[in-house]
Amino acid sequence: PTYRFVIVDRRARVGLITLNRPQQLNALCDELVSEIGAALDAFEADDSIGAIVITGSAKAFAAGADIAAMQALSYIDAYRGDFITRNWERVKTCRKPVIAAVAGYALGGGCELAMMCDFILAADTAQFGQPEIKLGTLPGAGGTQRLPRAIGKAKAMEMCLTGRLMGAEEAERAGLVARVVPADGLVEEAIAVATKIAANSLPVAMMIKEAVNRAFESGLQDGLLFERRTFHASFGLEDQKEGMSAFLEKRPPVFRHR
Ligand code: HXC
Repeated sequence: PTYRFVIVDRRARVGLITLNRPQQLNALCDELVSEIGAALDAFEADDSIGAIVITGSAKAFAAGADIAAMQALSYIDAYRGDFITRNWERVKTCRKPVIAAVAGYALGGGCELAMMCDFILAADTAQFGQPEIKLGTLPGAGGTQRLPRAIGKAKAMEMCLTGRLMGAEEAERAGLVARVVPADGLVEEAIAVATKIAANSLPVAMMIKEAVNRAFESGLQDGLLFERRTFHASFGLEDQKEGMSAFLEKRPPVFRHR
């Protein structure tokens, strides 16, 4: 496919999606979100890709859903068209690991997009926020649900009710981001982390992703059962035999299903 608002690239086994709508600080219009979906489709179909990085620019990961496009939207069009959220599910349904590499603003839908990824690596310049209240609306792609799960009710409620921004350091302390790195090395670091993930067995990475996500969808007993069944299933993989043989033979593993 050809892309207008994203740049799609690869570094060895890592797929890289760079949001590229600089005049609007990567504001998320329908077309941009569809293009993220198309890029994910292509990477997911490509057996030589083991992990994916989504990033923006130094100034903005994404400053939110496109306010110009939303301003005149009617209720009936938003409701019948399932405004924006329909497309967004594609990030959530991606079965390969997806890392958000966030520098600058990740606001509104931008923060929600980052939270939909498997984890966030933040530049020290990153600023997160759900400022929708200041526009007379509320988060619509997971902000009121994923933010409290990530940072707890008190901080999430405060952020959604005031619309204040949260810097990278606070975001790391609160558990919103996995790690903070210097801004000028952000994308390279994200690619390095993704490369590490992609060196392992892909089916195992997929199982781990599914199992961790279960923690947010089920009670502890059900989650533990899901984990145990999946753990048992891993013994059916050639890569488990290879990984454990390699350890016992004191050599690096050569995973077949990458
Ligand atoms: C459309 C946007 C935009 C947005 C920025 N721009 N954010 N356009 N939608 N979300 C445009 C500006 O209009 C401006 O265009 C250009 O990008 C540069 O922005 P400035 O405001 O001039 O830059 P700056 O002064 O540096 O301020 C940066 C900013 C500010 C703090 C990020 O732009 C801002 O507050 N943006 C809106 C953030 C927001 O409210 N996001 C939530 C949206 S609601 P021109 O043409 O003037 O150069 C949402 C709901 C999600 O996300 C629902 C589920 C999908």
